[in-house]
Amino acid sequence: MIDLSHIEKIYDSAAGPVHAIKDISLHINESEIFGIIGLSGAGKSTLVRCINLLERPTKGTVTVDGQKMTAMNESELRKARKNIGMIFQHFNLLSTATVYENVAFPLQLVNTPKDEIKARVTELLELVGLADKAEQYPSQLSGGQKQRVGIARALANNPKILLCDEATSALDPQTTKSILQLIKDINAKLKLTVVVITHEMQVIKDICDKVAVIHEGVIAEQGRVLDVFTNPQQPITKEFISVLLSNDLPAGFDRNELSDSPYPGSILLLRLTFIGESANEPVISRLIKNYNTNVGILFGNLDDIKGVPFGRLVIGMDGEAPEIAKALDYLNSQKLKVEVIGYVRRHDSTHQ
Ligand SMILES: Nc1ncnc2c1ncn2[C@@H]1O[C@H](COP(=O)(O)OP(=O)(O)OP(=O)(O)O)[C@@H](O)[C@H]1O
Ligand SMILES: [Mg+2]
Repeated sequence: MIDLSHIEKIYDSAAGPVHAIKDISLHINESEIFGIIGLSGAGKSTLVRCINLLERPTKGTVTVDGQKMTAMNESELRKARKNIGMIFQHFNLLSTATVYENVAFPLQLVNTPKDEIKARVTELLELVGLADKAEQYPSQLSGGQKQRVGIARALANNPKILLCDEATSALDPQTTKSILQLIKDINAKLKLTVVVITHEMQVIKDICDKVAVIHEGVIAEQGRVLDVFTNPQQPITKEFISVLLSNDLPAGFDRNELSDSPYPGSILLLRLTFIGESANEPVISRLIKNYNTNVGILFGNLDDIKGVPFGRLVIGMDGEAPEIAKALDYLNSQKLKVEVIGYVRRHDSTHQ
């Protein structure tokens, strides 16, 4: 549905050229929710604005729904952009117009007859749950309601694609959830292709099918959300994920005392990640039964990504070195990811 091929974007600024996008190629399938995550300044907004040619790439080609956007002139682009709705972090509503007028605006721009506008706006306001707010002004709405107006306006001309640039970044966590749910519902109902730009892994995890991590103008890593989430390859990806999954040591341990080899009083800490079926297998009870080691569970949580269970455990193990080695072999033979955190000493009141 969307094809970006070797996109490069250089801005001319007073301080010299800014190489915002270096060489990015991406393919986004029809009806999927595709997330693009990156730090501030990574080039996310630039990239998404290259999709509808609000920014013209310095190099590369953009193809949307079979049409080569980069080969179009301004009037062809205006027509092609009807196919692409967009919503923004700060909503960009007309403050002197009512909710109704805001949603009607893109329809007026393409000379839609008045009665058709009325029917369409009514339908859209119902879709986003604002049927009773038609005559209100943006200043009378909450942030979440403003973004609902933004979504209704973006959908006015029946686009096939919805671009969301930090659409929930100005909202509190609960409102964020409701807007993400609305985007998800719209994607399912209208089979829209959705591109979600964010700096929050939670947003990616909540609604995206695929994700591309962009860093300093290039793609660091991309793939299915489940794969990237459970098996990140690049440090920047790990950093985004670590915000959600605590990679800290459990309470009672001091990172300064972490060592690669055992020392008196230390135990071996392991982080186990279970995905899908293996989340249900009794690995820990077998570990305890079959090997002569002491095993304690220090931290655990269970989550899911697109309905696939995904659990993390931090366990502490102590015992003789050969037994620990055998236990590790057993864990590594199971369908789970085993990360050795290291040897560390427990500090709690009973030992002081
Ligand atoms: N119009 C412009 N002129 C010059 N430089 C620009 C322009 N727009 C963006 N840049 C620069 O391009 C780089 C990428 O900016 P961009 O806005 O795409 O990043 P971003 O990932 O969306 O960041 P944020 O998360 O802060 O929105 C930055 O270094 C930025 O300063
Ligand atoms: Mg941006």
